[in-house]
Amino acid sequence: MIISNFKSFSIFFLSILSLNFQAQTRKVITLKENWKFQKGTIENAQNITFDDAKWQKVSVPHDWAIYGPFDKEIDKQNVAISQNGENIPTEKTGRTGSLPHIGTAWYRNKFNLSAVETSKKIMLLFEGAMSEPEVFINGKKVGEWKYGYSYFYFDISENIIKGKNTIAVKLTNKEFASRWYPGAGLYRNVRLIIKNQESIAQWGTFITTPFVTDSLAKINIKTSINSNKGFVKTTIFDAEGKALISQESSSVFGHEFEQNIPLENPTLWSPENPYLYTAKTEYFVNNKLSDEITTRFGVRKIEFTREKGFVLNGEITKFKGVCLHHDLGPLGTAINKAALKRQMIILKDMGVNAIRSSHNMPSFEQLELADEMGFLFLAESFDEWKKPKVENGYNRFFDEYAEKDIVNLVRATRNHPSIVMWSSGNEVPDQWGTEGVKRAKWLQDIFHREDPTRPVTVGMDQVKAVMESGFGAIMDIPGLNYRVHLYEEAYEKFPQGFILGSETASTVSSRGIYKFPVEKGSMKQYDDFQSSSYDLEYCSWSNLPEDDFMLQDDKPWVIGEFVWTGFDYLGEPTPYDEKWPSRSSYFGMIDLAGIPKDRYYLYRSRWNTKAETLQILPHWNWEGREGEKTPVFVYTNYESAELFVNGKSQGIQKKIKNGNPQERYRLQWNDVIYEPGSLKVVAFDKNGKAIAEKEVKTAGKPHKIILETDRKTIKSNGEDLSFVTVSVVDKNGIPCPTATNQLQFEVTGKGTFRAACNGDATSLELFHMPTMKLFSGKLVVLVKSTKEAGKIELKVSGKGLKKGIIELEAVLND
Ligand code: GAL
Repeated sequence: MIISNFKSFSIFFLSILSLNFQAQTRKVITLKENWKFQKGTIENAQNITFDDAKWQKVSVPHDWAIYGPFDKEIDKQNVAISQNGENIPTEKTGRTGSLPHIGTAWYRNKFNLSAVETSKKIMLLFEGAMSEPEVFINGKKVGEWKYGYSYFYFDISENIIKGKNTIAVKLTNKEFASRWYPGAGLYRNVRLIIKNQESIAQWGTFITTPFVTDSLAKINIKTSINSNKGFVKTTIFDAEGKALISQESSSVFGHEFEQNIPLENPTLWSPENPYLYTAKTEYFVNNKLSDEITTRFGVRKIEFTREKGFVLNGEITKFKGVCLHHDLGPLGTAINKAALKRQMIILKDMGVNAIRSSHNMPSFEQLELADEMGFLFLAESFDEWKKPKVENGYNRFFDEYAEKDIVNLVRATRNHPSIVMWSSGNEVPDQWGTEGVKRAKWLQDIFHREDPTRPVTVGMDQVKAVMESGFGAIMDIPGLNYRVHLYEEAYEKFPQGFILGSETASTVSSRGIYKFPVEKGSMKQYDDFQSSSYDLEYCSWSNLPEDDFMLQDDKPWVIGEFVWTGFDYLGEPTPYDEKWPSRSSYFGMIDLAGIPKDRYYLYRSRWNTKAETLQILPHWNWEGREGEKTPVFVYTNYESAELFVNGKSQGIQKKIKNGNPQERYRLQWNDVIYEPGSLKVVAFDKNGKAIAEKEVKTAGKPHKIILETDRKTIKSNGEDLSFVTVSVVDKNGIPCPTATNQLQFEVTGKGTFRAACNGDATSLELFHMPTMKLFSGKLVVLVKSTKEAGKIELKVSGKGLKKGIIELEAVLND
């Protein structure tokens, strides 16, 4: 339940209070509105009497830095990135995104509580606060945390008073604390949980399915309470809400009840069929209902075996995974479910079945979507342990916080069927030395203690070192980051019997940009600070997609991969770490705006086994290249195809099993001579029959703006988003792939302009301003709903272009 106005909540609450607490034993209030925000160290800002009238009014989730401006001096790091093989420090400008996230800031929120409410147990939960949060209630410090990616809560029952209460949160982001854009602020939800004194503990349910057959599953439910009396009653509901079975238990051991409930003919959860059950846990004291919570869960069986690798519900399953950072491009890190869902729809279409939350705790919203939509999840915790990668990184907190951070990660998320493994770290420098081996074991043991049902991995890049030291041998799952040339040796040396590509590829490209001559290369740079979309460029430590494909296809002991990355993200603009104004990544298969690059189709042709993929590259607008060699690649699930330039055959190409890696997975015509007109590919099925075709045409001058939305109807909840892709076509309706027109956006009706993004890693245009240039002929506009239902109109205009208009609608429930 979301209560936007606390005052009205309180009045409402007071009047029906007695009724309310009988019928409903706990309330969760998401503190979204009426926050006051101010950047800078401010004296006495925690005090109740402090005057914040002039502070900015914001809603939470909020990322204070995403509004810019970009500035090359922000968090400029003069470092040698040793993970990238550098020895000499150089100036890295866009490493953390060049957005103003450094500094101290305050958030304040006032709300009223009634006498009855103040007699309850009240918890204050933060789902993420960037970073080093210090939390005050009515001027008194109630607690602090350090890691900006952790979920944490405080019991504030003793600190609240009847009437007006004030929460003040101080956040501090230091320089040199990150390797990417971390965002800034209360970027995930803040919730108040009001419950009875005798109630279920925070994150107090743990549901596992230790026995699963087609006819019967054992549902093990542990319920922790903050008392030691009474009994629990658990009822299991199917996905349609039908009660299936109910069981009571009064055997309390310390503070925990344990139940085993038989579920007949269970429907199993899997990426293909993400079926979810719900458990309702009621806690009774003196025969009176004292607390009640519902937990969604899935029935599924996971095994990692020497013989078969990863086995889900009895079937060998390979990870077709992507690594994702937590930012949402133009929205920054402020969590938004519509934006997350759009990402995951795009990933599903690519055939992705797994996500790694690199290199930190996933949001609750993303896990909920993974459960519902069917993604396997590798939930990661840290990018650093005790040895620093960056001066002010997690190394400062490791000793005091590592255990607490893992405990919260596991307890808060362990009921998600999507999570199939944990990661305690990524490329930690502690891979070197015996202390690191001890730390690896210590962390893995904490995960095991908190959750005996899932294995633990670490993304290891120092493969030789971990083979020697025993670090790799103690892992439940040996995860290799890159280093394809060491897979075989690692498989021989490690005892587990399989290898996971915990991080792969790091191929770089810019959407719609193609460079000549077309050749493979590491750390290639160009004057425009873009990378070629011919997908042949990678980093000194990394490789091309096909190198990973070959390992997976030829070595049954490779259990799959997590590609770096699904979407582009803010910061880490390799290979242009030293080149301003590069400020976001080139690694994504999909750009920062959420528009697929060519590489998306290369993976799709392999991963999405249900749909046809037929992608031609490059575009066919090469004024000035007439008569020059312009290679053409086709990414397709078909084995062979014929290419035509203006109707003239360029021959048939087939995937070559014993060829070089690219010949095996792409169709390539390397000697095509460019002439404007038509480029057409005809694909053949196994019997040589023409089965599909695609044509790309040379476009004339931009003439008209075209708008396409992912969702025409959105919810009128003030948060939902419609993502409108904007492109331009010529007089004949042919898309203009090189257009860079400056466009303006105007939203009227029951919606607002929220942001725009064109996917150009070098653009310094601000996301929240209603104007932006097209990049390779496209950009995306985000339209946000208000709290009123009704029509919304987006108008996009540009000099000399026919306007684009699209009508959207906000409804109460879509
Ligand atoms: C890896 C690292 C990632 C990212 C990537 C870029 O070594 O784990 O966080 O930096 O390299 O290629």
